[in-house]
Amino acid sequence: MSPPDWYKNAIFYEVYVRAFRDSHGDGHGDLQGLTQKLDYLKDLGVDCLWLMPIYPSPLKDDGYDIADYYGIHPDYGTLDDFKSLLKAAHARGIRIITDLVLNHTSDQHPWFQASRREKTSRYRDYYVWSDTDKKYSDARIIFVDTERSNWTWDSAAGQYYWHRFYSSQPDLNYDNPAVRAEMLNVMKFWLDLGVDGFRADAVPYLFEREGTNCENLAETHSYLKELRRYIDKHYPDRILLCEANQWPRDVRAYFGEDDEFHMAFHFPLMPRVFMSIRRGDSEPIHWALEQTPPIPPNSQWCTFLRNHDELTLEMVSEEDRQWMWKEYAPDPRMRLNLGIRRRLAPLLDNDQRKIELAYSLLFTLPGSPIIYYGDEIGMGDNISLHDRNGVRTPMQWDDSANAGFSEAKDIFAPVIDNSMFRLRDVNVASQKAKPNSLLQTIQKMIAVRKKHSALGYGYLTWHNLNTRAVAAYSRTHKKDRLFVLNNLSDSKQTVHMDVAGRSLTDILRNKIFPVTNDQLQIELEPYEYLWLETTK
Ligand code: NOJ
Repeated sequence: MSPPDWYKNAIFYEVYVRAFRDSHGDGHGDLQGLTQKLDYLKDLGVDCLWLMPIYPSPLKDDGYDIADYYGIHPDYGTLDDFKSLLKAAHARGIRIITDLVLNHTSDQHPWFQASRREKTSRYRDYYVWSDTDKKYSDARIIFVDTERSNWTWDSAAGQYYWHRFYSSQPDLNYDNPAVRAEMLNVMKFWLDLGVDGFRADAVPYLFEREGTNCENLAETHSYLKELRRYIDKHYPDRILLCEANQWPRDVRAYFGEDDEFHMAFHFPLMPRVFMSIRRGDSEPIHWALEQTPPIPPNSQWCTFLRNHDELTLEMVSEEDRQWMWKEYAPDPRMRLNLGIRRRLAPLLDNDQRKIELAYSLLFTLPGSPIIYYGDEIGMGDNISLHDRNGVRTPMQWDDSANAGFSEAKDIFAPVIDNSMFRLRDVNVASQKAKPNSLLQTIQKMIAVRKKHSALGYGYLTWHNLNTRAVAAYSRTHKKDRLFVLNNLSDSKQTVHMDVAGRSLTDILRNKIFPVTNDQLQIELEPYEYLWLETTK
């Protein structure tokens, strides 16, 4: 039996089912395919999978536009396949959370179709209708590249409807108690099937109130607390993970007093990892940590480097955004909305030193890390594909045709194989066979991390060294204490630290560094990172 706070020290892994493994030979990944690959994930050290939406959907937003909350998209399989996946994952000690899209449905959802057609329908008030498109004018537009307004005219209804994302995703009306009850039922359905919790999509936007920006409202928090109460009462070891792309002080509210979300993504930290690496300066990371308020004892951050969306730059200043675009998205096609639609390895110049360094930060800063599928082998991206599809291409298992993803002739998106990201090198099989490949290094980091409770549960102390080019901090939990050094720069850095003891050991490579007169002096190679423990 694992402890109820298992999520506080778990390795998460985000799966796009369509891209992971096609077991039926139709060119689309599916649930049976994912089931076939569970041993790989187990070996990697993954504790919990997050599956992007797998529900019936017209796929205008890759499944974040749900047409039926109680089914499985036929491309992915059946509910029985899902049950088998859960069983097989649980048998391996792997948990699964799914996407819970509360804020909106697809415009193809029968609720919306009934709502727009009949004013007297019981579904009429399931959505937010208005005679004018002038209401809630303080709410920002999120998909700025495609949407001109948060209101769209519907001729069948003869009114405008409200939507925070694509116009094909009408927002549900949370002022309607029937909607609130519906979504609780949706949650109950999947919890009864055995899912271990949910990644709750776009939660800041559930309610609208005139004169506000319609984000993070008290009414929203109060409904989310109701969901948590329900989980705590009936399904005590399941979790809610919050997607609120907000500043830390606003995200802090989503933990409540351990009575709202168990976890929340740390959005402001993520872009600052990239800033720090590009500038060779630990200050952006330090700043993000300083802005991060303490969270309640049973809460945990979820830290990430990349995910299925664009690398969002909403949580940086305008000046920093421009700088990030200039540095990381020199080709305008790499930009999307307020972000950058590229994967981890291309962002970091496919330089294994930098990619490992980014993972060193991910695995040692406070929070439970989540890996985006394919980033553990340094997969490339394809900016010629529309929207965010360029970072959602097939997982590369080996160097055969279709990279071992599918036996079909045509697959849903091309495999990435170009001069910088050669399929020959960027696939699971070849990296398993190659010592010190990215995959092997990450596997090692995860295994080492699991032996040190300080990395999951410990508090962080930042160390100001003689150079800001090195991010230096210790993590401490009870008797477990680690010093972590990350050279963010492309030049050698010599650091001096006051430490007690005779020597320190790098627990990743078992290398010993002597300490003389309580002084440690280490020369770090460009982008070198060390996880140090007092030698036993
Ligand atoms: C956040 C999801 O991560 C993104 O992919 C989606 O487009 C929006 N929410 C709308 O559901």
